[in-house]
Amino acid sequence: MKDLLKAIDIRVSRRVYSEKPLSSEHIDLINKEIEELNRVSGLSFSLHTNAFSMFDGFRKSYGLLKNVRNVVVLAGDATDSNLYEKLGYYGEILVLKLTLMGLGTCWVSGSFDKNDEIFKTLDTSLVVFGVITVGHIDKELSFREKAIHNLSHIKTKKERDLYTAENPSEKFLEGIKALAKAPTANNSLNFHVLEKDGEISMTVPKETSNNLCNLGIGKLHFEIGSDLGKFKFGSGGILDYK
Ligand SMILES: Cc1cc2nc3c(=O)[nH]c(=O)nc-3n(C[C@H](O)[C@H](O)[C@H](O)COP(=O)(O)O)c2cc1C
Repeated sequence: MKDLLKAIDIRVSRRVYSEKPLSSEHIDLINKEIEELNRVSGLSFSLHTNAFSMFDGFRKSYGLLKNVRNVVVLAGDATDSNLYEKLGYYGEILVLKLTLMGLGTCWVSGSFDKNDEIFKTLDTSLVVFGVITVGHIDKELSFREKAIHNLSHIKTKKERDLYTAENPSEKFLEGIKALAKAPTANNSLNFHVLEKDGEISMTVPKETSNNLCNLGIGKLHFEIGSDLGKFKFGSGGILDYK
């Protein structure tokens, strides 16, 4: 997991893609990652390289995303009691691996067409939360991407707002540094890490699907940054030291 720390440092949401399709090598690599993540998590991620209409036009994407052709659909079993947190945790592993492949990504749970034909091809027992867009990008952010980034980062929380701790260790603070770089819906960074008598836990204020997804993403970032251990599931889930 340590190699993913580099990806945490360089990742930002990318919303404008080049028209270049993914190569068959990239598609194979991504499908392999997805297969492995589905195996360990029990989730049902799937790559679709024909998602041209999912973000078509201003109405469907509010004009936020452009030239999207590839998406990873984030879906899982409705009976999985940790579904949204798992989608966040394992989806972010995928995002970080795609980042290391030099591809651009964006988490999307709101601004896409939920009636797109792609969703009709999925098993009806699955709950679909959203997608991760993926594709080739320019090195630099476009004017549009910079504008959206600046707008969503006007009031970004500081590292110090993300935790309560009496005597935070260096490793704990490394975890917080990685946590502050996590993508979250509306850039809310609305998780909180509590350290008390050596016990570390992470909470979100309300257990909505977006917040639980944020929680999964946040736990992954803290685990990678701190290298201290692995959280139990749930808001308030405690970190098991390794
Ligand atoms: C669960 C989740 C849902 C998101 N939904 C959307 C979305 O619907 N549309 C969008 O443009 N960005 C969406 N984002 C991206 C966030 O706006 C973005 O991660 C946040 O502003 C922080 O910016 P950064 O990813 O560049 O660090 C979502 C992110 C997460 C984690």
